[in-house]
Amino acid sequence: MLPKRADFPADFQFGVATSSYQIEGHSFGGAGPTHWDTFAATPGNVVRAENGAVACDHYHRWEEDLDLIANVGFDIYRFSTSWARVMPEGRGPVNREGLDFYDRLVDGMLERGFKPALTLYHWELPAALADKGGWRNRDIASWFADFTQVIADRLGDRIWSAAPINEPWCVGWLSHFLGHHAPGLRDIRATAHAMHHVLVAHGKSIRVMRSHGMKNLGAVCNLEYPIPADETPEAAAAANLYDAYYNRFFVEGIFKGRYPQEVMEAFAPHMPHNWEDDFALIGEKLDWLGLNYYTCKRIAPTEGPWPAHHEVDGPLPKTAMGWEIYPEGLYQFLTRLKREYTGDLPLYVTENGMAAPDVVEDGKVEDPHRIAYYRDHLAAVQRAIAEGVPVKGYIGWSLMDNYEWALGYEKRFGLVHVDFDSLQRTPKASYLAWKDALGSRG
Ligand code: FCB
Repeated sequence: MLPKRADFPADFQFGVATSSYQIEGHSFGGAGPTHWDTFAATPGNVVRAENGAVACDHYHRWEEDLDLIANVGFDIYRFSTSWARVMPEGRGPVNREGLDFYDRLVDGMLERGFKPALTLYHWELPAALADKGGWRNRDIASWFADFTQVIADRLGDRIWSAAPINEPWCVGWLSHFLGHHAPGLRDIRATAHAMHHVLVAHGKSIRVMRSHGMKNLGAVCNLEYPIPADETPEAAAAANLYDAYYNRFFVEGIFKGRYPQEVMEAFAPHMPHNWEDDFALIGEKLDWLGLNYYTCKRIAPTEGPWPAHHEVDGPLPKTAMGWEIYPEGLYQFLTRLKREYTGDLPLYVTENGMAAPDVVEDGKVEDPHRIAYYRDHLAAVQRAIAEGVPVKGYIGWSLMDNYEWALGYEKRFGLVHVDFDSLQRTPKASYLAWKDALGSRG
């Protein structure tokens, strides 16, 4: 059982999230190629070299999918716009068909009575911009501002909330240092540039949307709770460094106008010119901060070059991603964000959920572990609220099973099961649990 709507403050809102490349089907409607298409086409990057060409075919089935959201009684739908669908070359000509798609989609949300929460960029960089260096090139901030302008002109009058970029850490570190996501680089200079440029682009995009009169603008950061692998001071230092480049880098940039010293010790020689001058832009006032939270990591020191640490296996039950289930971390982050960064600014959980190897049997999917995962994380949110943290909403990941990036279609996060051959949708038990918890919209 999930807690009921009535167990939360009257103005608390519930939602569900997806992202464009993970569900739409990028081969449809005149979308341009993205760096995820090329990354996936390169052996060894993605499980079975799967890509988002068809995904959930949401591009053609969006009405059915919006009905699924409405049917639960969610207040908010967090979705994203694909840059390459709207501007196939990343700059210049606009693909009318792509923009029309998002226009219909937003109207479809409003007709069904839930709020469009837009993320402008959820990772599918147009390939033409990747050719120009992508996030390593400072010009990306201007290219992204132009894309923001196109979206704001067409959708800005109907959007409930907007955030420029999903998970700057993934755009920066995961994709340029670890090489796990497109463009698959493993280079400290590329990482330092990307991590800074992503925030410059964020700030420029916020300015464009503000000057356009759009309201309720925020940022969405993913945080992962680091736990020292043992009691030694070395493990504590390793976990602290992990915390610095993973959790603090972006919120410190946005809310404090600086980067963590521990990170700059390694990044300083690799930063773009005059990076210190960008904090006024990076720190553009926001109306909320969104936190994507999934798990904790156990960190131990390693011999070797910076950051000289590694992850060790932990004892808690794990999801199909191999991620330990640790709701306490969500509570800790919510209280810490308020205490150290955001004060009275509204906070939202913008993603939270788990992958499981769900199967359809007799037309049903039993996923009790997912229901328990949601229940326990919602309880963590309730604890934070009880202590005065201004958490204003909770958005689950994800509406339906989808393209889980480098892990292809193997990891199922949905409330709705998708058969990737027939593309049939089957609501899981967790979907019905949410429906029971939320009833009709308040
Ligand atoms: C987040 C991403 C989202 C999805 C979940 C599982 O990091 O924002 O697209 O992949 O993880």
